[in-house]
Amino acid sequence: MEGITTPTYRRVHKKYYGGIDKYFSPFIVVTGTHHLKKRETREFKPFEEKLVPQILTQRGEDFAWAAKMLKGMGYTEVNLNLGCPAATVVTKGKGSGLLRDKDKLKRFFEDVFSEGDLPDISVKTRSGFIYHEEAEELAEIFAGFPLKEIIVHPRVREEFYQGNPNFESFRIIKEGVNSPVIYNGDVFDVKRLKEAFLAEGKEGVMLGRGLLRNPALAEGKEFEPADKRLFPFLDELYDSYAEVLSGDRDILFKMKELWTYLITGFPDKKEEYKKLLKSATAADYKAAVKSILEL
Ligand SMILES: Cc1cc2nc3c(=O)[nH]c(=O)nc-3n(C[C@H](O)[C@H](O)[C@H](O)COP(=O)(O)O)c2cc1C
Repeated sequence: MEGITTPTYRRVHKKYYGGIDKYFSPFIVVTGTHHLKKRETREFKPFEEKLVPQILTQRGEDFAWAAKMLKGMGYTEVNLNLGCPAATVVTKGKGSGLLRDKDKLKRFFEDVFSEGDLPDISVKTRSGFIYHEEAEELAEIFAGFPLKEIIVHPRVREEFYQGNPNFESFRIIKEGVNSPVIYNGDVFDVKRLKEAFLAEGKEGVMLGRGLLRNPALAEGKEFEPADKRLFPFLDELYDSYAEVLSGDRDILFKMKELWTYLITGFPDKKEEYKKLLKSATAADYKAAVKSILEL
């Protein structure tokens, strides 16, 4: 998740919390120039264990270039983003925009898999662009290629992050392909994690916002406001951002963004949260965190 699950976040999360088999980078934009901006390069450099870099692009040839470059760095799996719903991405035919034209999507994979020396290729997809009924055709396309795994967030692009995940379209994809299919979408607590795992995702579950709300979710633990790891985790995250960002403002921006998720675990701390959002210095921010955590 752009700007949130950064290399810094992943490193500190890994130190305090377990249960995760692999982390996915926020999408890295790859264009025909085959030149990556510094900002994009930082998402996967230096090499990180357990990381699957994710690519956002509209041409198979460009995806293959990036996949091979990442393989050269030691990454054994690279993921294709077929889910991003943002208008600026979709209008360029990227992310979920690639799902709109099925012939183009098929050609995309043909172009990728016509190349040799690729790492494992996985995809993260929605179940359609406009309609969930598109799932059948998408499954047919995916079935034609040796995908390492298919992560399905069963919403269509039009839904962005609204409404409920559509389990029927998830199952259509799961039954129609030969690759392992991983469930993603609205897994916010352990009950749902277990249900999703048993009902939909025996091959695995991908967590997004749920892990930001509860960093211990992958351990199978419900959010625990008194979790002794929470303060050291947040403190080390702050200090680690201080090493790579310049100035309190940028660090506070990052921490406040994470808090928009974490605060769901503290429904009766509205006043304290307001102070946290207003904080302009490290000291004010840390005092607000302590008052929320009752330390
Ligand atoms: C702010 C934000 C950024 C996201 N960035 C990415 C991304 O870079 N790559 C990706 O595959 N999904 C991205 N997603 C989608 C999530 O991975 C996930 O599919 C979606 O939030 C539904 O799952 P969840 O309910 O577990 O969060 C993003 C979602 C949000 C809210």
